[in-house]
Amino acid sequence: MGTLNKHRLVVLISGRGSNLQAIIDSVQGGSINAEIAAVISNVNNAGGLQRAAHSGIETAVLEHTEFKSREIFDQNLIELIDKYNPGTVLLAGFMRILTPAFVSYYAGKLLNIHPSLLPKFQGLDTHRRALDANDAYHGCSVHFVTSELDGGPIIAQASVRVEPDDTAALLARRVLEKEHLLYPMVIGWVTDGRIRLVGSSVSLDGRELGPRGYQLKDDQHT
Ligand code: GRF
Repeated sequence: MGTLNKHRLVVLISGRGSNLQAIIDSVQGGSINAEIAAVISNVNNAGGLQRAAHSGIETAVLEHTEFKSREIFDQNLIELIDKYNPGTVLLAGFMRILTPAFVSYYAGKLLNIHPSLLPKFQGLDTHRRALDANDAYHGCSVHFVTSELDGGPIIAQASVRVEPDDTAALLARRVLEKEHLLYPMVIGWVTDGRIRLVGSSVSLDGRELGPRGYQLKDDQHT
């Protein structure tokens, strides 16, 4: 009874699920006022499935390899997700490009975390690309998902300084620590109704955020 009106989250994963774990921890710790209705993976041995099961969260697997087309997979994914009646759908290391039909169906309620300071480095291999670009700062972004890959309105970013002796692996590890802070923080704002998306502009508590969203203070450089 007590959980009837809680904001419901569905989390989509493909892999180890460390961001999922950070979300689970924040829900359990009370800093995200929501319940995780289900964790859905397109890969049947994704590590995150164990994390969810360990916390008593319902899991489901929908393997994209079993569908003839991206469109059919996404339609089935919509049907599966909607069984859980989510207020927000979270991509957390979900390694599939989603069709415009899927993205527009969940417009305004679909979030992603991406390991770069968008709009830099959309797509894969972001840490290597930040090093190759000799960037002084790198980081992560949480954004609304639109049909442009990693291109939707940005809600918040966290940055780390790139050190002279950094490798892609070291950088990935430090960025991941920031991801685990940033994503739960933003999800908490969303589930508390503090974030609004109008067109492509995002506001927090009624104040419009800039094109790069809220900048998490630690290591801030602007
Ligand atoms: C993270 O780096 C996230 O930013 C990206 O995919 C990775 C997922 O890692 N979208 P995990 O499965 O959450 O550990």
